[in-house]
Amino acid sequence: MAVLLHVTDLHLTGDGSQPYGLCPRERLERFVARVNDEFAYADAVVCTGDLTHAAQPASYDELQACIARSSVPWQITIGNHDSRPMFLERFAAHGQGGFAQSYLKLAGVDLCLLDTHLEDSSGGTICEARLAWLNERLADATQPVALFMHHHPSPLGIRAVDAIALQRADELAAVLAPHRHRLLFIGHGHTHRTSFGQWQGIPVIGQRSLVHQASLGLRRSVRLVTGTPAFSVIEIDAGAFRVHHEDLDLGPVLERAAH
Ligand SMILES: [Fe+2]
Repeated sequence: MAVLLHVTDLHLTGDGSQPYGLCPRERLERFVARVNDEFAYADAVVCTGDLTHAAQPASYDELQACIARSSVPWQITIGNHDSRPMFLERFAAHGQGGFAQSYLKLAGVDLCLLDTHLEDSSGGTICEARLAWLNERLADATQPVALFMHHHPSPLGIRAVDAIALQRADELAAVLAPHRHRLLFIGHGHTHRTSFGQWQGIPVIGQRSLVHQASLGLRRSVRLVTGTPAFSVIEIDAGAFRVHHEDLDLGPVLERAAH
């Protein structure tokens, strides 16, 4: 069985500043502590971008320092709040072809991280080079593939969030279609919400942030709220998968089960 820990939207600042009064570094340190304490057996921590809040060099240094203490290896891509050059300068092993994209074969699953960053935009995109890279990787796949990216490829039905979704999603769909039988799911961040859906016959999982969250703005405007920081534990076994949404904070223990 392969076990992935999905965490996203860290929004590190690197200078001690706390956007919305929340401390990104403290949240990440607590996440790494839980990983080491409870999930050290996991195969990878997958982080889908917005590593930083304002793409400052010190915030990438902060990320390096935090994940150096993780007993589980990280696989990382970038989001709209990030700088691709700054990221690749420090995380060269997480880039291929000049993008923050990578492909890793684990026991039971291939892990594919796609770079959807679009410079000077909150929305995301893909391009011919990234699509060609993805097509080649999927053509070489010999086992189920878990695909991760920052931006959501399909609408959530929340106007403000969908305005900054992945552009050219129909071109991504065309590349994915011949490999549908191998694709387990698409996991994304960016929306700062937990969501589950299906797009082009592919399960789509939205992971909420480790810091601020977005309210459910289906028929009213979205508000950024403190919410509950969370991550997911994804277990993949013989081509099947299950997602355990997990709050960062467990709260007080009320009773212990006998088993
Ligand atoms: Fe974000």
